Amino acid sequence: MIATAQPDAGTRAHAEPEPVDAGTPAKLFVLRVIHFVTNYVVSQLPSFGLRRIWYRHAVGATIAPDAGIHLGCYVWSYTSRQVKRTGFRIGARSRINRGCCLDARGRLDIGQDVSISREVTILTASHAVNARDFRVELRPVVIEDNVWIGTRAVVLPGVTVGRGSVVAAGSVVTRDVPALSMVAGVPARTVGMRDPAAAEYLLDSPFPLFE
Ligand SMILES: CC(C)(COP(=O)(O)OP(=O)(O)OC[C@H]1O[C@@H](n2cnc3c(N)ncnc32)[C@H](O)[C@@H]1OP(=O)(O)O)[C@@H](O)C(=O)NCCC(=O)NCCS
Repeated sequence: MIATAQPDAGTRAHAEPEPVDAGTPAKLFVLRVIHFVTNYVVSQLPSFGLRRIWYRHAVGATIAPDAGIHLGCYVWSYTSRQVKRTGFRIGARSRINRGCCLDARGRLDIGQDVSISREVTILTASHAVNARDFRVELRPVVIEDNVWIGTRAVVLPGVTVGRGSVVAAGSVVTRDVPALSMVAGVPARTVGMRDPAAAEYLLDSPFPLFE
């Protein structure tokens, strides 16, 4: 379980520079092969169990045994100049639906009973647009327990989506989302609040076949 962050609307995590530990060409080659197999082979295997084993052991993710990543997701787990993988965690019973993009280059921490709908994009890397080297910057993203993110929303680097909150379909989340709030639009703004009692469910339905 992730501890609930204090609501802190309007803020986001500070950027950290991309680590430069490129390693040997052989190491980088192996990483690129793992990245390719993860996103173009394993992501298409029709088994939650097989995919989970791969994400844990080859990608280095910490995924609860009853959490699931559906078919066709794209997992970004390293940057071009970084060999060491950063944190990627998914808590108990959380579901990542089909076709999502999960960027774990700058640490991605997803709590428990989180529902992420189809084709959501969560990003943890960006470029320093006013730096002459166009360098990569990383910011962690935290999705707290019992959050629901609607279809095709985009969560930008550095954001914490607070416990029990809802992100409406198609929204672009640029700043922290307070716990139990409902945000919508581009950029996402608070449009309502969620009943605290309605945000305490367990997502324990069985995994659907071939999903
Ligand atoms: C967030 C959501 C649940 C809100 O539903 P709701 O509680 O019925 O809220 P309302 O429709 O009354 O909307 C409240 C306000 O937010 C706005 N709003 C709702 N969804 C929005 C969206 N996706 N983008 C922009 N604004 C949105 C509404 O226009 C309304 O604004 P108004 O009061 O100025 O008219 C719903 O809009 C949504 O996005 N659901 C996601 C569906 C989805 O992804 N399904 C896939 C998995 S099953």
